[in-house]
Amino acid sequence: MGSTTEANPALPIRKIPGNYGLPIIGPFKDQWDYFHNQGLSIHGVCANVPPGPFIESNPYVTVLDGKSFPVLFDTSKVEKRGLFHNNYSQYYIPSTKFSGGYRILSYLDPSEPNHTKLKNLVFFLLRTLKGEQLAIKGKVAFGDPNDNACFNFLGQAFYGVDPTNTKLGKNGPTLIAKWILFQLLPPFLIKSDYKKLYDFFYNASGKILDEGEKMGIQREEACHNLLSATCFNSYGGIKILFPSLLKFISQAGVKLQKQLAEEIRTVVQSNGGKVTMSGIEQMELMNSVVFETLRIDPPVPLQYGKAKKDLVKKGEILFGFQPFPTKDPNIFSNGEEFVAERFMGKEGEKLLKNVFWSNGPETDNPSVENKQCAGKNFIVLVGRFLMVELFMRYDTFEVTTGTSALGSTVTLTWVKRASLD
Ligand code: HEM
Repeated sequence: MGSTTEANPALPIRKIPGNYGLPIIGPFKDQWDYFHNQGLSIHGVCANVPPGPFIESNPYVTVLDGKSFPVLFDTSKVEKRGLFHNNYSQYYIPSTKFSGGYRILSYLDPSEPNHTKLKNLVFFLLRTLKGEQLAIKGKVAFGDPNDNACFNFLGQAFYGVDPTNTKLGKNGPTLIAKWILFQLLPPFLIKSDYKKLYDFFYNASGKILDEGEKMGIQREEACHNLLSATCFNSYGGIKILFPSLLKFISQAGVKLQKQLAEEIRTVVQSNGGKVTMSGIEQMELMNSVVFETLRIDPPVPLQYGKAKKDLVKKGEILFGFQPFPTKDPNIFSNGEEFVAERFMGKEGEKLLKNVFWSNGPETDNPSVENKQCAGKNFIVLVGRFLMVELFMRYDTFEVTTGTSALGSTVTLTWVKRASLD
């Protein structure tokens, strides 16, 4: 059906069974078989794989293992225009009517001039955050782990405004959920809800919009981008990552939980009871657990790129499903298992370059030239805060997990309050 990706020219191509003929059911069936029945030994294949029925059933080139996957990060080789992944309809590109008529940053290729301006705006938003302040605001959010707490945390962290004290009240999360899910339907159905969110962001982000104007971005365009970065990228991502962190620590059991509690409390105590950035860096096991969760369960697992030159055939879509490279047995021993201490020590640190959740190696940083997640370091930090807050309060806990349309759901079923200190 095709040839392999540039990174692995010598490897054999195998056709994935599939192509069930039916335009709607077929791609779903292919996806199921693809992810559930195929082994990991395939390196580069052409297949009828996700995105699935919303798009088209043309074959895609698929990059699978740790060696070939990074081709998707190389913006000289792949074009990312309009190819941002959308959690609920992979590769389906919603109408720009959902974002005020603008193509939002996530859908821009770095070669487009607007990409640089808008990414710089998001960097500006994130630069104004201070770690210690975040730790204090995080306390409120993580003590009360529900959607409102998460959105309020982001409102306060990014804009210094608690959404519940504005016209938005407690409706933020419901409006966001509708906005995301409704992107499959005609835009007019969500117009008035979107306007409520937009008004909140417009009023809360005056200083950032001023800065945007200095960068040459009109206030409206900047505001639609801030809304998207906060509601879709940040809120959407955290809603998947936090339950995932809790799930793995809960499943790992009491021994790991006790070790984490001890490590975290010892460091905090030695800093006079304060959570500091340098203290957080010293919590080696905790940091490893956050990276291991991002490795084994990347919240946004699918990436796409269009070949800029003849990697395989110009114009062809390259597709990557992250858990394949990040569980690649040639790189990670027992890659299917959650190994809490995997990234500890010098050897562990070396593995970080193979962690790709941010659409790039963990050892790289987002820039205006690449498509790596602008919030990469922020997310690692809030993941760490969640751990610190949790183990400052509790010795051990258990959760049950389920899935919802917007990621996994986690219910704390049992906790033992802190008694070690
Ligand atoms: C757990 C949380 C998050 C995850 C898993 C995540 C993941 C990702 C991924 C995989 C991409 C690349 C998508 C692609 O082009 O294929 C991306 C891009 C992006 N993310 Fe995140 N993200 C998270 C949180 C955040 C936060 C907190 C922000 C910022 C406030 C953010 C801002 C962005 C932006 C602006 C882009 C587009 C970058 C560009 O166009 O160059 N993300 N994110």
